[in-house]
Amino acid sequence: MVALSSTNTIGVIGAGTMGIGVAQIAATHGHQVRLVDQNSEAIERSIKLMKKGLDKLVSRDRINIAERDAIVNRISSSSQLQDLSDCSLIVEAVVEDLKIKQGLFKQLEAICPYNTILATNTSSISITEIGAALKRPENFVGMHFFNPAPIMKLVEVISGKMTSKSIAETITNTATAWGKKVVQAKSTPGFIVNRVARPFYAESLRLLEEGVASAASIDAVIKESANFRMGPFELMDLIGNDVNYSVTKTVYKSYYQDQRFSPSILQKELVDGGLLGRKSGQGFYQYGDNVSQAIPDSSTSSYKPNAILIEGSLGIASNIVNIAKSYGISVNKSDGNGFIKCGDAVLSLTDGRTASRRAKENNTPNTILFDLMFDYEANPRIAIAAAIQASDKALEHAIGFFQALEKTVTVLQDTPGLCVMRTVCMLANEGADASYQGVCDVPSVDNAMVFGLNYPRGPLEWADQIGLAHVCRVLSNIKQAYGTDRYRTSLLLQQLRDANMGFYD
Ligand code: NAI
Repeated sequence: MVALSSTNTIGVIGAGTMGIGVAQIAATHGHQVRLVDQNSEAIERSIKLMKKGLDKLVSRDRINIAERDAIVNRISSSSQLQDLSDCSLIVEAVVEDLKIKQGLFKQLEAICPYNTILATNTSSISITEIGAALKRPENFVGMHFFNPAPIMKLVEVISGKMTSKSIAETITNTATAWGKKVVQAKSTPGFIVNRVARPFYAESLRLLEEGVASAASIDAVIKESANFRMGPFELMDLIGNDVNYSVTKTVYKSYYQDQRFSPSILQKELVDGGLLGRKSGQGFYQYGDNVSQAIPDSSTSSYKPNAILIEGSLGIASNIVNIAKSYGISVNKSDGNGFIKCGDAVLSLTDGRTASRRAKENNTPNTILFDLMFDYEANPRIAIAAAIQASDKALEHAIGFFQALEKTVTVLQDTPGLCVMRTVCMLANEGADASYQGVCDVPSVDNAMVFGLNYPRGPLEWADQIGLAHVCRVLSNIKQAYGTDRYRTSLLLQQLRDANMGFYD
């Protein structure tokens, strides 16, 4: 099925944050757009905002004045649904309410020709359920843009049980023609992005609740060690803790209280206290002119290693050998189970066991674990954790080792899977389940997270790089440590590991 051509008129209902963005995108790609909102002030306000945004593009030479004017002139507005009767596609972006959305689509079916495509930008309501109220549910599809719609690359095209394949294809091709990266998914709670992203917040909330590190330290590790653009706490404060908590609750309820999605009591406390984030002046952080910034923990040591012994393979962290050499540290090698011996410290990449448990099992009290990094050479910060049994000197030697590689070191309390490894493995676990359950294919999971949320790397691609055997080990060890179903390993991950394959083989 081909994309709609620019001669097709596009309708948008709801001139709020999302609707005006969708209108701008369609008009930019040459369509006549009819924007309908019951509130004429909302239309005026958002067209003004859109013009301001377009002026910025002009000032940055991204479009010229004639193009700006053409975009604006292609959009006409109204408060009457009747004015959408000649549209080939109508995208609805009104309040997130099932009955209101169903009511609007029923009216549209009465107004528009039988082949008009009806789409919703809902972020959480079942496409199948909205479609159930319609006479022609086969013409109804989810078209989920991300905020700000003109900037964010991703569109999730969501098919309900009754959506026709050809309609989903037409919308996929149309969004692609509008310059978007499109992923197709079946209607399931959270679709792809809002489901697979839950552990990004949930695992950090858990670490904070357990006192493993401060919010600022966790944010710093996630950004500076793993290349995420924002840390989870900064992001929750930006989104609004009320909004983030409500999405989590919805997904949790929709999956029948699956532990994977359980909301955080800590976040509920913030919401109950009105500490909603940036918009209320305080959330995980305080905002305002005279507020001092929260500083992440960084540990220092005066120890300077001359030589290290590498025992066995360090897996995804193998490049540490070359990095150490490049800093003039002499490296000896021997067989073993993936240890770096440096002074009194016995360092190892986390495998989901706590450092204290590994210290006991390996009979090496001075066990210090280090975390997963996006790039062990380029990233400036690393998280480590010491076994409770470890000596102060061993920790000092571990800090000194990473400092010698010019890393800022954040010492976490001993916790299963540390921070980045645990987060990435849980993201991959959720992405694997989405794929296993036929919600979408493997590349769509990665594309959704990279283009919808700017993740530095797709979680499934990342899992392949870590090695699925290691990912499964991490998850199973975390599960054993907590004794909860939350960390159960996706069957797809287990099968691929058993077949010695990756997601992309
Ligand atoms: P918004 O509150 O900014 O705008 C909604 C607009 O719809 C308002 O201007 C309102 O006057 C209008 N409206 C409400 N009922 C109407 C009706 N019966 N007829 C005509 N106009 C009506 O909402 P926002 O944030 O743009 O969200 C719209 C939809 O997009 C929701 O379903 C939301 O879940 C979804 N969404 C929101 C995202 C976001 O970041 N804000 C991201 C992705 C999806």
